[in-house]
Amino acid sequence: MSQLFYCMTMPGLETLAFSEIREHLPDAEQVKFARGIAVFKTAHSPAALLELRTVEDVFASAVHIPHMRRDPDGLRVLHSATMHTDLTPAITSWRRAHHGRQPRTWRVVSQMVGSYDFRRNDAGLSLANALKRVLPRGMRQVDDDADMEIWLWLGNNDVLIGVRLSDATMRHRSYKREHLPASLRPTVAAAMNWLARPTAQDVVLDPLCGAGTILVERGLMAPFDRLIGGDIRDEAVAMARRNARSADVGVSWRVWDAQELPLEPASVTRIITNLPFGKQLGSHQSNIDLYSALIKEFERVLTPDGLLVALTSEDRLWSTLLQKHGWRLLKKVVLVVLGQPASIFVAERADQVVETASR
Ligand SMILES: C[S@@+](CC[C@H](N)C(=O)[O-])C[C@H]1O[C@@H](n2cnc3c(N)ncnc32)[C@H](O)[C@@H]1O
Repeated sequence: MSQLFYCMTMPGLETLAFSEIREHLPDAEQVKFARGIAVFKTAHSPAALLELRTVEDVFASAVHIPHMRRDPDGLRVLHSATMHTDLTPAITSWRRAHHGRQPRTWRVVSQMVGSYDFRRNDAGLSLANALKRVLPRGMRQVDDDADMEIWLWLGNNDVLIGVRLSDATMRHRSYKREHLPASLRPTVAAAMNWLARPTAQDVVLDPLCGAGTILVERGLMAPFDRLIGGDIRDEAVAMARRNARSADVGVSWRVWDAQELPLEPASVTRIITNLPFGKQLGSHQSNIDLYSALIKEFERVLTPDGLLVALTSEDRLWSTLLQKHGWRLLKKVVLVVLGQPASIFVAERADQVVETASR
């Protein structure tokens, strides 16, 4: 029997996450998207959902209120909807995701995205009061470290109440021991890899690898031929090496200047990279020179049918350079990285397309 689940994603990655969900669970049926949320139905085991790499958290949906009222009466609606819901399927999903364990403690976590005439804490209390009456008797409410977390998400119109199936390792990953200031969220790195359409023949390069998140995520996502990474800073490469070792992913690491890569022409099939941008790294002025040099080097080392996936907040600069140097933009995904809008650009050589068409 199909059950309702939802995933939380980085805002902007909802539809992409749903395509990963469909690949893992072909029966998944999309129900709704909101910013940072993908709601869907599936009859698959919840354990399969914990394998997803582009989502931050997974929930078994317990209550969905589609048109929540904004006035304080909303609190009564919340209480009553919870009182009238059978929580058994959501709790069963939690048990299936936790090898049959019985949850002994619970707590409520509330998030308010939309604007309401009541406070987030009061909504959380209203939910907790109802849960005290409907959860199995043996379960105890605690303030921290609960076995089972019940999340309340107050969106712009909808309200979702769900049992959290994932834990913090889903978004932070257990391999990621070391972080750099501009280190990418693993789910965003996974999304970039997903957009690069992984194949077992891939030779993947991240020429500005930082802590190595993109290549480690690639190694964990799908089979590959080779992974190659480098950075201009020794300490970044050392960190990337340690992260890859802890994830048990084999990567060839080098210290280099990505403007002059020690690689043969047409030797890699994918370039996936997080370019320097924002206040933490470089400046707009230095990026103008750096990006121009990089794009020429990327053209040299990438096979003619290869894919280039780059993340930057220098939207106009990167779009202009792609166009000027003969790249065709296949897709652009807009999201927020380190508090600022950024885009993932997926591009291929435009001349390769013409060649294919004339064959
Ligand atoms: C945005 S960070 C990459 C973050 C990385 N994706 C992660 O998750 O940690 C950009 C990286 O580019 C490196 N970098 C800057 N200029 C470079 C150059 N000319 N050659 C190679 N690496 C460079 C910086 O040292 C920095 O680690």
